Amino acid sequence: MSGWGSGYVTDVTYLPAYYRQQSPAVMAIAAALGGVACDLPAPDAAIHYLELGCGLGFGATLLAASNPGWQVTAIDFNPAHIAEARRTAAACGLANIRFLEADLATLAEDQVGRDLPGADFVSLHGVWSWVPAPVQAGIVRLLAAKVNPGGAVHLSYNALPGWSGGLALQRLLREAGKRLGYRSDRQAEEGLKLVRALQATGAKELQSPMARELLERLGSVPPAYLAHEYMNENWKPLFHAEVAQALAPAKLEFVASADLINNFAALTLTEEQRALARPFDDPLLRELIGDVCTGRMLRHDVFVRGARRIDPRVRDAGLREIWLAGNIPEAEMRYELETPSGTAELSPGFYRPIMTALQDGPRRVGDLLTLPELGGARDNPAELVGVLVGLGAAVPVLRPGAPPHPAAQRFNRHFAAALRQDSLETVFLAPAVASHAVGGGLSATQIDLFVLDRIRAGETVADVPAWIAALRPVDADSRRKLQAALDASLAGRMRLLRAGGAV
Ligand SMILES: C[S@@+](CC[C@H](N)C(=O)[O-])C[C@H]1O[C@@H](n2cnc3c(N)ncnc32)[C@H](O)[C@@H]1O
Repeated sequence: MSGWGSGYVTDVTYLPAYYRQQSPAVMAIAAALGGVACDLPAPDAAIHYLELGCGLGFGATLLAASNPGWQVTAIDFNPAHIAEARRTAAACGLANIRFLEADLATLAEDQVGRDLPGADFVSLHGVWSWVPAPVQAGIVRLLAAKVNPGGAVHLSYNALPGWSGGLALQRLLREAGKRLGYRSDRQAEEGLKLVRALQATGAKELQSPMARELLERLGSVPPAYLAHEYMNENWKPLFHAEVAQALAPAKLEFVASADLINNFAALTLTEEQRALARPFDDPLLRELIGDVCTGRMLRHDVFVRGARRIDPRVRDAGLREIWLAGNIPEAEMRYELETPSGTAELSPGFYRPIMTALQDGPRRVGDLLTLPELGGARDNPAELVGVLVGLGAAVPVLRPGAPPHPAAQRFNRHFAAALRQDSLETVFLAPAVASHAVGGGLSATQIDLFVLDRIRAGETVADVPAWIAALRPVDADSRRKLQAALDASLAGRMRLLRAGGAV
């Protein structure tokens, strides 16, 4: 530890990732689903987007590249993050983003903080439950001073009671790791080994279904991710009500989840659970019941400063005007949802024609609801948007029909080229490509980025054998996997990236 991080990991940099929950369009849709007015940014709106605790700034940079009319400010206290983020933004030739090195504990009182313009949309992803109370208090003071009236804030955090079955695992991983290694990524790896070994002996507190599930998941995550998740001194999961209470002094009111599926009790709770929740009109209690029933471990809450309630008919009329672009190939769509209460079925008769239509290009929600081949009720735009965007099967589109913008193209080219140099070793937690039409990211795999790079290099015909050779597979198995991934990319995702205006 460095001494200046207030217990937060500072010796290892984080990893690039884009999360749709951080995009203003998704925040605005979440607010609408929560019955609160929050407009999607207009195509030419000059909004100010602020990210607090931005890490390497991949998400903020993608949003700046996709929306040249926005001002983006991204803040982190780790100079290694800010230096790398500035290098990337410069390489992409972006003039509408700035990265500031500042500590959120004191930024509200600093001159830099005082000079910040008011923000329309703010995102804090992976920060709140990982930093100590004085930093949380500084964040609240900053939000109180900087969120514009009607502005939205996305804030994610590790949640209780979902995390209760994993507390022993986290504590042991961290405490053992600190004594077994010097740098925090190695500490995390060593700590994890001990946790695994003890779990195999039958250690009682490591046998919960949640601990088992976590251990399985942690088998495949990069050490830098482990370090930022598990090695912070002040990590503390929280109940939703505690977070809502902490943000109240900034006049921020919880309106909905940016994990849009979680706004639909019909999809996440059993009928009996819904009946027991029904008498309560207090949103805090409803959220608590939802958290107790589903055990969700990470919440993506959306808060609005000055929540204005909207009539459901007005809300639905607004949702019908939203455009959606396909974000996964139809063949990859699963019409079943695993929920804590079992499997919820998404009617294929209703969703398949919609997914098929979206493969050809963005469509207006109102038009999707009038597709002749649709089976089922056509009067619920909220569910259509919530389910498709919530599952990541579609993304909202801010500028339908807009051609690829040079800034977004430079961004995509930059990361595709970085990948080429590293021969697919660059680790993305969640890669994506920038699209001016979308006004945000479209999901992409590292292989998709590689294919994009080949297309940009002027290769009009897919030379898969040559591409596989260039990627240097180590054995026959990885060769087979590469072949499958390249075929899938060419058959499905490239079409979507083109349709979504990213290519
Ligand atoms: C888990 S990372 C998330 C990064 C980014 N939001 C993302 O999702 O990729 C949390 C970030 O918060 C930053 N951070 C932690 N404490 C901070 C503080 N007191 N002031 C500013 N940044 C802080 C860390 O340096 C780190 O980059």
